[in-house]
Amino acid sequence: MNLILLGPPGAGKGTQAQELVSKRGLVQLSTGDMLRAAVKAGTDIGKKAKAVMDAGQLVSDDIVIGIIAERIDQPDCKDGFILDGFPRTLKQAAALEELLAQKGKSLDVVIEIKVDDEVLVDRVSGRYTCAKCGAGYHDRNKKPKVEGVCDVCGSTEFTRRADDNAETVRNRLMAYYRETAPLIGFYFAKGKLHSVDGMAPIEEVTRQIDEVLG
Ligand code: AP5
Ligand code: ZN
Repeated sequence: MNLILLGPPGAGKGTQAQELVSKRGLVQLSTGDMLRAAVKAGTDIGKKAKAVMDAGQLVSDDIVIGIIAERIDQPDCKDGFILDGFPRTLKQAAALEELLAQKGKSLDVVIEIKVDDEVLVDRVSGRYTCAKCGAGYHDRNKKPKVEGVCDVCGSTEFTRRADDNAETVRNRLMAYYRETAPLIGFYFAKGKLHSVDGMAPIEEVTRQIDEVLG
């Protein structure tokens, strides 16, 4: 099964993708994670992307389409993948269709996670992740079971993203409404869109997604 998780920054795409990875054995393809890895590694793509990401703007279509084209060709994607943060523009959506068609694959479903704007800023600014395994947490909504210790790997080191500050989050939201929100209509018209209530607690959102996926 190949699916897209669509929603604004902080909607819970990464959180729900991790659930789907552990429950259904799908692969999570997060362009945000891939770009952050490129920035960390200091590659040419990373150098180009860093300032754009820090400003909360979108990295160029050509760069992210190139990254995804290469990634979905890897053997671990053959049984299905979750696109988290891609596509983000109509151009990326068109490129994805072409890529999938070339490889004889198709898109099964697009899940839109709907969340009120005022909640998003709080979610993003309270977020942190395990520095070792990348498990996601939140200052209030999703604390580790033992304070300061990652539930998944036991590490005691955590990091916060450079673009998770209130000002950059607002720019990211603007980019979402300008460039990404039109994809909701695009996928609705194709009969692929299902919406879930991302204001509900994490477990309830997971349940709604399970219901959509069957
Ligand atoms: P990216 O990494 O994709 O960031 P984003 O879309 O802004 O999404 P986030 O990761 O911030 O949010 P999320 O929906 O995954 O929420 P999460 O589950 O963490 O992109 C970063 C940048 O890279 C972009 O700005 C751009 O520059 C560039 N980029 C990436 N892809 C690109 C593309 N395709 N084209 C161009 N540029 C691209 O949840 C947030 C917090 O809320 C967590 O702490 C979580 O615990 C908590 N939470 C989650 N769900 C709930 C719930 N139901 N109730 C309460 N709390 C919850
Ligand atoms: Zn961990």
